[in-house]
Amino acid sequence: MVQRVLFVCLGNICRSPAAEGVFLKLIQSKGLEDKYFVDSAGTGGWHVGRQPDPRIVDASSRRGISLSSRARQIQLRDFYEFDWILTMDNDNLEIVNSMICKLDKPQKAIVRPVLSYARKYNLSEVPDPYYGSDSGFEYVLDILQDACQGLLEEIN
Ligand code: 4NP
Repeated sequence: MVQRVLFVCLGNICRSPAAEGVFLKLIQSKGLEDKYFVDSAGTGGWHVGRQPDPRIVDASSRRGISLSSRARQIQLRDFYEFDWILTMDNDNLEIVNSMICKLDKPQKAIVRPVLSYARKYNLSEVPDPYYGSDSGFEYVLDILQDACQGLLEEIN
């Protein structure tokens, strides 16, 4: 059965597209492409339709990870269509959890902070790199590589 995984951040142009790319690369390296459908979304809608921020695209490409998503906002139907909804920070988690009371039938998705699967990094949030320096984008990728590895081991 295909596992459907949705990564969620605020704008869907930095952290969650990076998580999507990191997780896709991981499943490709293990020949598991047929077993997963991976997507990302933002809690906000300001960047809908945009490609990921060039700073995260460049940092990812230096690690052999290509990001090809277009920003979209999380929808109520995502709670029925995805098995896993993985949030980047506490604000995202709060907003995603607040959407659950608007559902008119029980959700399918398990909602968890992505960093609950990290092994090396003892953090609860993936820091928002948008207003920071280039090193923040590298750090986001370091954290996400750890968390996505743990996530795959957990759900595979
Ligand atoms: P993301 O980063 O949530 O990781 O995509 C951000 C992107 C845009 C903004 C904030 C965070 N913004 O304020 O426009």
